[in-house]
Amino acid sequence: MIADNLHIVYRVYGTGAGKGGATAALNRIIRRRPATGVREVHAVKGVSFTACRGESIGLIGSNGSGKSTLLKAVAGLLPAESGKVYTHGQPSLLGVNAAMMNDLTGEKNVVLGGLAMGMSREQIRERYDGIVDFSGIQEKGDFISLPMRTYSSGMAARLRFSIAAAKDHDVLMIDEALATGDRAFQKRSEARIRELRQEAGTVFLVSHNNKSIRDTCTRVLWLEKGELVMDGPTEEVVAAYEAHQ
Ligand SMILES: Nc1ncnc2c1ncn2[C@@H]1O[C@H](COP(=O)(O)OP(=O)(O)O)[C@@H](O)[C@H]1O
Ligand SMILES: [Mg+2]
Repeated sequence: MIADNLHIVYRVYGTGAGKGGATAALNRIIRRRPATGVREVHAVKGVSFTACRGESIGLIGSNGSGKSTLLKAVAGLLPAESGKVYTHGQPSLLGVNAAMMNDLTGEKNVVLGGLAMGMSREQIRERYDGIVDFSGIQEKGDFISLPMRTYSSGMAARLRFSIAAAKDHDVLMIDEALATGDRAFQKRSEARIRELRQEAGTVFLVSHNNKSIRDTCTRVLWLEKGELVMDGPTEEVVAAYEAHQ
């Protein structure tokens, strides 16, 4: 997997392009006259790296530094402004982007999520119990047969992680999934990430928890303001990042 001088720009429409103060914005809202400006956010600026099979790569950096954007771009969910991403197979992003339907039960979402990732109905049937057990959703009652909207955000995140972790991935990307569960779930996740890594895929992990990064990653990319500050062995990069904070 290669990212070559990758630039990602968001275009936010109807912002008034930052012109006018708060009063102007308020008047626009009250008069329901849409603003016509476009504001550009240059979220990833010329990032290049090569990831090999078997590598487990952490992404660190302060809030808004471009970690989630970079993962989405590598997963093919955001178009590149310039530069390019080359991948073997389809990268899958665990976390925010997994398609989950709030009005459907957890059960139905396990099936839909599995199908969306390219699993067959037979595979889903075989792995269903494992997915539900892994998520820990049933620990506090029979939640799997209730609609997802009755789940806490942590429960929903755990179920998303469990569905995606049931499949072997070429390139697996996890955005802050480890931070959401309790200690037992984090332990299961870390163990599963290690297994997935051994199955020779490439793993990307975004986390605010430097311990998770240290425990699961062999290499770390440090982003700030959309630029790659450092790329190297985990301990070297995390230590530099901690010293910088
Ligand atoms: N959908 C979006 N539209 C416009 N700007 C966005 C969007 N998503 C993120 N951004 C901006 O892009 C930058 C990088 O955000 P993000 O990738 O979410 O950072 P991180 O994951 O490191 O916190 C930030 O300035 C953020 O405000
Ligand atoms: Mg993020």
